Amino acid sequence: MRTLTGITPSGTLHIGNYFGAMRPAIDAQTRGDCFYFIADYHSMTTVTAAAERRKNTQGIALDWLACGLDPQTSVFWRQSDVPEVCELMWMLGTLAPMGLMERAHSYKDKTAKGISPNFGLFAYPVLMAADILLYDTHRVPVGRDQKQHVEMTRDMAIKFNEAYGETLVVPESEIRDEVAVIPGLDGQKMSKSYGNTIEIFGDEKALRKKIMGIVMDSRTPAEPKPDADKNLALQLLKFFAPPAIATDYEDRLRAGGLGYGDLKKVLFEHYWNYFAAARARRADLAANLDHVDAVLRDGAQRARAVAEQVIGRARKASGLR
Ligand code: ADP
Ligand code: TRP
Repeated sequence: MRTLTGITPSGTLHIGNYFGAMRPAIDAQTRGDCFYFIADYHSMTTVTAAAERRKNTQGIALDWLACGLDPQTSVFWRQSDVPEVCELMWMLGTLAPMGLMERAHSYKDKTAKGISPNFGLFAYPVLMAADILLYDTHRVPVGRDQKQHVEMTRDMAIKFNEAYGETLVVPESEIRDEVAVIPGLDGQKMSKSYGNTIEIFGDEKALRKKIMGIVMDSRTPAEPKPDADKNLALQLLKFFAPPAIATDYEDRLRAGGLGYGDLKKVLFEHYWNYFAAARARRADLAANLDHVDAVLRDGAQRARAVAEQVIGRARKASGLR
């Protein structure tokens, strides 16, 4: 049972990404046969600065490796190191009805937000289908927003198999609904598009300032807070502190006597310590970029070995060569 997912290299990762996407992917490694790639071709639909793409790709590689992606167990590579994916994309594109493509809501959403559409953005679901089908994937863990793309992938795989005989594995999505939505600094869903993020890695002073700047109500420290569970700092503390400690702070907030400033200090300390080991690993990796490059090259070789077989089957089945 192969698990595969792609990570778009777009900017700095935050704790919403960590608990919503990274942690589950890293935990899934215990099942074995995990394929994780950095979707640098996909980033071209929105980022057209080469230096930015290079920097983001390297940053994401460091983040994932520091947080526990194990390149011995999992195959971890850069999408563009296996360009066969573009060939499969072409084959699948010829089987993707225009009606299906026009219904893709990621494209509709992005154009509605004023992004001027290019063909790549429109064709994005076909590239994503090729990403998945090129590696004989069974399970695709994604957020709800990507569910339609995995369904389109299934459609294309079935169409291919109908046209050319059983060739491609038809995958299933694994939707992570059970993962809590991590609230941002303003209480809304944390998202880089809302500017309310707490980064996983970054400058200590700036991050402390962000956390100490969380806006609270004007009740005095002495006042009991019967609605303690709605307190944003406490909600965030629950992700980082052991349950007994979080419960203790909740009780103290409820009873009165705990000031918001003190609570935010505690939150910062727990958050900062939570990522201490990962931060140290990231610093080591950043000082050893040749090693990171070698990890990605090795991953590309292992990924390519699978890709060559699948593309070979697809070429033969479709009468190419
Ligand atoms: P952003 O909203 O910051 O642009 P992305 O859309 O790039 O984040 O999300 C990447 C992954 O992180 C997705 O799998 C998504 O489900 C997860 N994720 C993002 N924000 C949150 C959040 N606030 N809580 C839980 N998971 C999140
Ligand atoms: N489209 C996905 C996202 O925006 C990233 C992605 C690209 C992906 N190719 C994939 C996810 C293949 C799963 C499988 O998050």
